[in-house]
Amino acid sequence: MKKRVGIEALAVAVPSRYVDIEDLARARGVDPAKFTSGLGAKEMAVTDPGEDTVALAATAAARLLKQQDVDPSRIGMLVVGTETGIDHSKPVASHVQGLLKLPRTMRTYDTQHACYGGTAGLMAAVEWIASGAGAGKVAVVVCSDIARYGLNTAGEPTQGGGAVALLVSEQPDLLAMDVGLNGVCTMDVYDFWRPVGRREALVDGHYSINCYLEALSGAYRGWREKAVAAGLVRWSGTMPGEQLARIAYHVPFCKMARKAHAQLRLCDLEDAVGPGPGTPEARDEVAKSQASYDTQVASSLGLNARIGNVYTASLYLALAGLLQREGAQLAGQRIGLLSYGSGCMAEFYSGTVGEKAAERMARADLASVLAKRERVSIEEYERLMKLASDAPEPVAPAPGAFRLTEIREHKRVYAEGT
Ligand code: HMG
Repeated sequence: MKKRVGIEALAVAVPSRYVDIEDLARARGVDPAKFTSGLGAKEMAVTDPGEDTVALAATAAARLLKQQDVDPSRIGMLVVGTETGIDHSKPVASHVQGLLKLPRTMRTYDTQHACYGGTAGLMAAVEWIASGAGAGKVAVVVCSDIARYGLNTAGEPTQGGGAVALLVSEQPDLLAMDVGLNGVCTMDVYDFWRPVGRREALVDGHYSINCYLEALSGAYRGWREKAVAAGLVRWSGTMPGEQLARIAYHVPFCKMARKAHAQLRLCDLEDAVGPGPGTPEARDEVAKSQASYDTQVASSLGLNARIGNVYTASLYLALAGLLQREGAQLAGQRIGLLSYGSGCMAEFYSGTVGEKAAERMARADLASVLAKRERVSIEEYERLMKLASDAPEPVAPAPGAFRLTEIREHKRVYAEGT
């Protein structure tokens, strides 16, 4: 029998502060409806230099081990997916291993491909376990990032930050993955990039949306071909994409998930044989079905709307939000997931929600993770954004959280809150 492999549990870490997106709109002289209904945002996480990629990753990983009672000696691989790395050489993963005092007997490394980096790490972990090379060990994959475009830019309302830690094992209580059925699509494009030495990303915003949609089409069609051949979905009755109970997308801003879902439906409508909506306009109308969006997508966006873009972690925040809300109802049902990273790379994959999903998500206690945040004014947010990244303010870390305290001789020093 083929091994069952996938995500056993997850934990989320968020920055301690956020701004209300309507406050930001008013401060920028923009109609708040543009940010709320135009982009789908409610709140946006704000970091200070003490909450860097390492601190967020270590906090999420420590939380995962504690909440889910993971024996560290079971971990054989620790991967951090990030595009906000802190060193050209030393990986975030080695910091996490040290800060959590994890055993030396594990692989540690970072994976990078914009927002796709976390999925690259997840697939390496899944395939490591599925191949038998893991020899019974589990993997921890942490997606940790800070999305930063700068003050007064078009990307500003789509910033955010945080980390999601995933426990990957042969006991996939959250999601048993359909190993090998992934569809992938890569294209060499400049849609979003951050040259070495720059703190803020550069982005061709509207072009990046088109790249996302084009790459999604390639990845989804690749998955669909394999899924039809394997008998997971079929070209009869409803469309193949509709046979997935839910679909979680990479969410740079919530409205993007709506655009992505319409594109996925368009792929099915364009490729279906036989009579369907005739004209391209009619197809477009059906693709944008509100009912389909409400059923398959809307329930995954609760956390993304309150945190913002977390690059590598955005898809996994959508998964967390979905299972937090619907883990019990979805048990035993197949869902789809679409990862996108600029540059660019998309991967579509699927899996079945585990019977213990609701129980695992209850332990992750996401409501209290978000409830502990402080709402700050736009003046305070702007002050934090202007702080030098190498000079963290002397703030005591919250219990269970890590903070960067100083950089001494180019070496980063962290403290853990007790
Ligand atoms: P913009 O150009 O300022 O906004 O920036 P817009 O004019 O396109 O308006 C946005 C939406 O608000 C539109 O809706 C407007 O109609 C609507 P749409 O037509 O798209 O459905 N709108 C209003 N709605 C209600 N009331 C109003 C109103 N006014 C306008 N009064 C943009 C938007 C997303 C381009 C910008 O925020 C940006 O550049 N963001 C960063 C890039 C990004 O997120 N790209 C997404 C795809 S690439 C990706 O996902 C990868 C990424 O995560 C990075 C990585 O991989 O590492 C970014």
